[in-house]
Amino acid sequence: MRFRNSIQTLDVYNFKETFCEENQIICHHLQHTVQKYIKSPILDVGAGIGDISFKALGDKKVIMIDVNKISRHDYPCQPGHVRKQCDFFDFESKEQINTVLISHTLQFIDDSVDLLNEKIREINPETVIQVLNTNDDFMGDLMEWCNQNTESSNPEIKLDGFPRNYTLIKTVPFTALLRCPDFMELARQVSYLMLIELDNVANKLVQFLKKC
Ligand SMILES: C[S@@+](CC[C@H](N)C(=O)[O-])C[C@H]1O[C@@H](n2cnc3c(N)ncnc32)[C@H](O)[C@@H]1O
Repeated sequence: MRFRNSIQTLDVYNFKETFCEENQIICHHLQHTVQKYIKSPILDVGAGIGDISFKALGDKKVIMIDVNKISRHDYPCQPGHVRKQCDFFDFESKEQINTVLISHTLQFIDDSVDLLNEKIREINPETVIQVLNTNDDFMGDLMEWCNQNTESSNPEIKLDGFPRNYTLIKTVPFTALLRCPDFMELARQVSYLMLIELDNVANKLVQFLKKC
């Protein structure tokens, strides 16, 4: 079986800066709705270019990790923030991490829920903040379409039993809009969400999206 297990920094940037306003909404909630639960130092797991931490956690101490090499040339970095090219499972810190932020990265690190829980236990943060897609409505239909029409996909799914030994204190539902100039671009953006190879199914996916 083969599935896409990574996306390029530029793809993420285009998704977030050009076609979707989701990160503005995430930043708003981090700054206002859940602010009181966020305590430095923060570990931003799969930070990508780091725009969320830059905009929403500028006054806090943040360690941004990503398996990809990302530098100040890709996106600026706040004075109290550091970037590390590092796999989440290899991350180690002498300093106690108080908050772990996992924003749209769970699908890349959830091969084993036990390993994931073990890593969180080792880091031992007070709070884990997850930013996840809810796979209902359009996203649910899309997942079903992917199951039926692609060799494999790797959508982001809420994990039962993760994080273990933590109590859910707040859920903040929100909806973001993905606006593209044409259906082929929408198909490309959607392929990043579902981590599917677009080439073989592009036209079929466009037909599906036109009917949604
Ligand atoms: C969809 S992006 C999310 C970026 C950002 N957190 C956001 O919400 O906009 C997922 C990021 O996770 C990174 N990633 C994937 N697997 C990882 C791992 N094992 N450890 C650290 N980062 C990882 C990818 O390189 C990518 O930048």
